Amino acid sequence: MKNEQAILLTGGAGYIGSHTFVALHEAGFAPVILDDFSNSHPAVLDRLERITGRAPVLERGNVLDTAFVEAVLRRHRIAGVVHFAGSKAVGESVAQPLKYFGNNIGGAISLLRAMEAVFLGPGSWAPPTLVFSSSATVYGDPATVPITEDFPRSHTNPYGHTKLVIEDMLAAVRQAQPAWRVGVLRYFNPVGAHASGLIGEDPAGIPNNLMPYVTQVAVGLRPQLSVFGGDYPTPDGTGVRDYIHVDDLAAGHVAALRALSSGASFTVNLGTGQGYSVLQVVRAFEQASGRKVPYQVVARRAGDVAQCYADPSLAKRVLGWQARKGLEEMCADAWRWQSGNPKGYAT
Ligand code: UFG
Repeated sequence: MKNEQAILLTGGAGYIGSHTFVALHEAGFAPVILDDFSNSHPAVLDRLERITGRAPVLERGNVLDTAFVEAVLRRHRIAGVVHFAGSKAVGESVAQPLKYFGNNIGGAISLLRAMEAVFLGPGSWAPPTLVFSSSATVYGDPATVPITEDFPRSHTNPYGHTKLVIEDMLAAVRQAQPAWRVGVLRYFNPVGAHASGLIGEDPAGIPNNLMPYVTQVAVGLRPQLSVFGGDYPTPDGTGVRDYIHVDDLAAGHVAALRALSSGASFTVNLGTGQGYSVLQVVRAFEQASGRKVPYQVVARRAGDVAQCYADPSLAKRVLGWQARKGLEEMCADAWRWQSGNPKGYAT
């Protein structure tokens, strides 16, 4: 029997968490999901069982409950934590800043306190080991592209502000207690779905992000896509982003946990290094799905930047990881998920 290391995934029932669950399972880890289903669906558990052949271990609750998190860490003899849990809608963060500061910063503090008590307290069985979901949003409006990790950081909305504050908090904690092993992963634009079509992105309400909006138009849930801005200084005037297949992103978390087991902390970009415009994505999706995606170019969305794509070379050096899947596969997999589950997990 394998000696499987238990890894706690806060927010493990969410979009990136569920794909990382599969990747960790396949890599021989024993992932444990902590989720309160505030922005995810319990049906994901059954889907994960169908993919992995094993019923996921679930701890239902909220990271803000420090005593609960501490008990979970002990109960499963957790060796490492991946912290996905948090609120993630940029627009909502502007309207409800306290929700974001409370959930995201409060959640991180609660988790760190629980980890400190368990892993730096009596009877500890492992060093405190944490992988944190940060975001390319910490680069604000980058002066140039591609973006390397040493670019200046800034924020333009409360959501981005929380990511920046948590990054700083983690640095301070590491400085105070060098035993901490912390991997900060700055995600670019995760899209796509597991090749089975059983798990994927299931946004609540009107999607904020491009790919789920496109897939919902293609499946007939929405009449047309609004393309936010056609006058950016980009080749076709629409915004350019670094779309990364969620399976590649999930693999980045496995690589991060392996790298942390040798001790050194790091902050890396997880992107492909390739930028695509909104219209390039629409065309690639139409090709992959065989569906038309009607669109209209409208005004720019407040806070959007013209171009944002990664230099992913540090992740390759530090983690031995690089993205493998291209735009065509991202679109084909996103479409398989959406067409097989027109209303997401509630289908
Ligand atoms: N877009 C549209 N129409 C839509 C939705 C998006 O034209 O209906 C455009 C945007 O203007 C942008 C591109 O598609 O040019 C991508 O937009 P997304 O909303 O999918 O992604 P963003 O790059 O704006 O934001 C994403 C994450 C954030 C994160 C940010 C980091 O959603 O959480 O990347 O750069 F902070």
